[in-house]
Amino acid sequence: MELIYKNKKDEKEILKKAENLKRDIYIPENKSLLFKGDNFDAMSLLLDKFSGKVDLIYIDPPYNTSQDYFLSPDRANSVSFSKDSVIAYSDRMSQDEYLEFIRQRLILMRLLMSEEASIYLHIDCKIGHYVKMIMDEVFGMKNFKNDITRIKSNPKNFYRRAYGNEKDMILFYAKNNGKNIWNDIRVPLENDELIRRFSKIDEKGRRYTTIPLHAPGETLSGPTGQPWRDIPVPKGRHWRTDPKEFDILDEQGRIEWSSTGNPRIKKYADEHKGKKVQDVWRFKDPQNPVYPTEKNSQMLDQIIAQSSKEDSIVMDCFAGSGTALKSAYKLGRRWIGIDNSGAAIEVIRKCQIGEYAFLDIEGSAE
Ligand SMILES: C[S@@+](CC[C@H](N)C(=O)[O-])C[C@H]1O[C@@H](n2cnc3c(N)ncnc32)[C@H](O)[C@@H]1O
Repeated sequence: MELIYKNKKDEKEILKKAENLKRDIYIPENKSLLFKGDNFDAMSLLLDKFSGKVDLIYIDPPYNTSQDYFLSPDRANSVSFSKDSVIAYSDRMSQDEYLEFIRQRLILMRLLMSEEASIYLHIDCKIGHYVKMIMDEVFGMKNFKNDITRIKSNPKNFYRRAYGNEKDMILFYAKNNGKNIWNDIRVPLENDELIRRFSKIDEKGRRYTTIPLHAPGETLSGPTGQPWRDIPVPKGRHWRTDPKEFDILDEQGRIEWSSTGNPRIKKYADEHKGKKVQDVWRFKDPQNPVYPTEKNSQMLDQIIAQSSKEDSIVMDCFAGSGTALKSAYKLGRRWIGIDNSGAAIEVIRKCQIGEYAFLDIEGSAE
């Protein structure tokens, strides 16, 4: 399956274009890097030294909204213009041009990604479904992981003949499904969920719940199918663990016996590891952004903590105000940031992002 549109280039032609853009410019290999310039050019320059080295890419490109985004001294607002405003970036292309712009850059990103890398692409629901098809082409449908719904704002109640829009989407792919770095990050239960799920309180005031000693599925041989203290395993089920472990739990007071002699294992709230992260996220963007379309920093913390390691390189080649770079630095990762907007670079350079090499590939390197 392929998305057909005007002026879609052959991949070989795109790689040749990248090859032709290579030039002799010193790029340190062991530092974080900030590029000012077009990300196609910057990634072409990175190919020699960084192919297969980047473990995580987060991008939040323009969404082809047919708008200009302004930055004014007092506030960064998406589309309003005042006399002191400067244009942060312009988002105006035809749909064909836009899709090809994204595709060409995704092809270079795939080359930079390591075998255990992931990419998260943030996009809105108007163009996102076309971008999903492009990502399926570039990364392979088998490497698609999640289409994450991100609740980005409070409900919108102004009148229109449609439902309010409070979400956008993040498309998550692995370079190789099954090999992607995955730290199994857990999130704490909300207080009301905690009270609902751990409804009992013991003599020491600790919240707990109880679960059966058995789970579905019969074991035909082995200890998990044998009676424990003359209690037979219920039909169609097996003990959760070797019943010898139940003796230890009972000694520790971690088995609750009902008045009819039915044992259940106690699970304490304060030992709960947190819940698995699902594919609907609530991370509202800052109320007073320093840059238009600035994203929620906790969302970036979660992505980076989940899909990279301490020695990973994290890249955002549509860096904007540097939200991803700040999180990467905070979590001790090396990062590569690219943006072609002078306004964005100015904002990024004021952030706490550690030491890095700055390369102005439109002008001269520092
Ligand atoms: C939606 S904003 C990113 C906002 C960012 N996630 C944040 O939290 O601040 C998109 C950014 O992509 C940059 N951009 C657009 N086209 C680019 C290109 N060809 N090369 C490099 N940067 C580009 C724009 O200047 C803009 O800063």
